Amino acid sequence: MKSEHVPVLALDGPSGVGKGAICLRVAAELGWHILDSGSLYRLTALSAKRNSSLNNTLQLIEIAKKLDVKFSAESDHLRISFGGEEVTDAIRVEEVGVMASKIAAIPELREALLDRQKAFAKPPGLVADGRDMGSIVFPRAELKIFLTASPEERAKRRYKQLKDKGIDANLPELVIELQERDRRDSTRATSPLVAAEDAVIIDTTNMSIEEVFSEVMTRAKSRFE
Ligand code: C5P
Repeated sequence: MKSEHVPVLALDGPSGVGKGAICLRVAAELGWHILDSGSLYRLTALSAKRNSSLNNTLQLIEIAKKLDVKFSAESDHLRISFGGEEVTDAIRVEEVGVMASKIAAIPELREALLDRQKAFAKPPGLVADGRDMGSIVFPRAELKIFLTASPEERAKRRYKQLKDKGIDANLPELVIELQERDRRDSTRATSPLVAAEDAVIIDTTNMSIEEVFSEVMTRAKSRFE
């Protein structure tokens, strides 16, 4: 039986660039499914921490293979449930982000998550958010976009996001954390953070979220309609 072709928009880029917000709006506009691949790494880390297996690669792989995760797009955020438990906020804390970025360097773990990620491609289409969506997971995606912004600008965006949620934050510390995360994500041996050769690179440093959204939608419309 010939499997149905599912169009994919791969949206990659470093931490804090605003991929999540853009993916949510683009997916809503196109009426497509969404894959927040970072949350799979975050959930694996959270779950492993809970049963003290963060340093055990075999157990990490078992956890990754069995992840029972559901994404539901709300108007302004992506709700994530894990085995029925609401973990939307629990996986966003910095500690989980750091653990996720550490375990994401393990090649066997990335391999274990590959099929899980590919399975999100269902009709009518998928908007995939991550670091290696265009390069590794969906190399045949029809549209690949790589968003960038300076670390200072990304830290400012993150700072504002935290303040809006009533969470205290320190801007210089956020810049350092982002640079450290970038360093880990771009220097790892397996699937480092790089733009796919055929990706459109958009530097969003001086763009508003509206402008980024409209630029991505223009490209999506010309590619998919
Ligand atoms: O995007 P997010 O910040 O939620 O991702 C958390 C971490 O998971 C990243 O810092 C990165 O190390 C890892 N990740 C990855 N590949 C992806 C998505 C996330 O290695 N496709």
